[in-house]
Amino acid sequence: MNFIKQNIANKEQKNMQKTIITTGGNGQDGSFLTEKMLEAGHKVVSIIRRSASEDKKLYNIEHLLGHSNLIIENGDLTDASSLFRIVAQYKPDEFYNLAAQSHVGASFTSPESTMEINSNGVLNCLEAIRIFSPSTKFYQASTSEMFGDNMNVPQSEDTVFSPNSPYACAKMAAHNLVVNYRKAYGLFACSGILFNHESPLRGLEFVTRKITDGVAKIRHGKLDCLELGNLNAMRDWGFAGDYVEGMWKMLQLDFPGSYVLATNRCVSVRDFALMAFRNAGIDVRFQGEGPEEVAVEVGSRRIMLRVNKAFHRPAESTPLVGDAAKARAELGWEPSTSLEAICAMMVAADLRRNQDGNSRASFLRVVQSA
Ligand code: GDD
Repeated sequence: MNFIKQNIANKEQKNMQKTIITTGGNGQDGSFLTEKMLEAGHKVVSIIRRSASEDKKLYNIEHLLGHSNLIIENGDLTDASSLFRIVAQYKPDEFYNLAAQSHVGASFTSPESTMEINSNGVLNCLEAIRIFSPSTKFYQASTSEMFGDNMNVPQSEDTVFSPNSPYACAKMAAHNLVVNYRKAYGLFACSGILFNHESPLRGLEFVTRKITDGVAKIRHGKLDCLELGNLNAMRDWGFAGDYVEGMWKMLQLDFPGSYVLATNRCVSVRDFALMAFRNAGIDVRFQGEGPEEVAVEVGSRRIMLRVNKAFHRPAESTPLVGDAAKARAELGWEPSTSLEAICAMMVAADLRRNQDGNSRASFLRVVQSA
């Protein structure tokens, strides 16, 4: 009897098991999603670009390598044939496109490759699905950067896009393609207009992680002074784990759509830096203005943060703050983690990493003991 029940349970689980394709599986969001999907018993096909430094490439999912339901396929968004081959072979239930040239600043120095990856790459995904697996549900990582210099706040799905960087222009073209393929071919294609989302897995080139890693290094005596660009920039920062949950919820709907995910709270880079120093047990005060502004440690008078124009961008988005009312109503999605908690988590992880090395395992230990 138990054996029969077990068999039925196994069969049901198999029936419910989905095949999920992800691109960008080793990135912050991709690794959260891969972990979540494997935990739920799904099969994950992670499309990873070949790289010269093979050892460094999979550091965010190294703890998952060898999992029986994780398949790594070499492919590239800019190589349509690789996507055609993989989509035709697996005919996935869901496809999450999380790969991108994701650095806004870098898009000013590499505009052409940014367009190629962030626009044409998405077209290649959509074509692969349209031709080889039209019932696949598709998620595209769109971005609040598409609102650019539109001064209307908070921004929602109805706010007019006004992109202000090659990155944002490319993402907007991709967003429009997603909407077009939804209408023209009836594809289940969703666009998540995600505001900034952070975690200890954030890349060091993004400002929150640059700050938390910097203050950790200062604390450990490995760095004298952190250098940043525009301290007045204001962003709506949420927790990446929450946002990955939102992506997944979009693809569980019966009808596709576009959804803003945001916390509706806007904080400056300066205030995030203050928060991070405080979490590292360092008391600083900002003084001076513009390029002369510095953060000075109370007591020692040591300068621990200064402005470096090299980190300024040729154009900036205006304060970005999102209205996620539609996601709340239709997805039942809520951000669950405050910026204070995110910052504390990131600083704790970076204090540990800068002591121990730089592995995902050290991040997990920090979270578990927090
Ligand atoms: N990276 C960086 N480095 N940014 C700095 C610095 C610095 O030294 N100093 C100030 N900033 C400012 C930037 O000018 C920007 O206004 C803000 O900090 C945030 O920069 P990033 O962390 O690089 O993120 P982003 O807002 O440009 O873009 C991120 O979020 C978007 C929305 O979700 C990226 O993840 C994008 O890929 C994503 O689309």
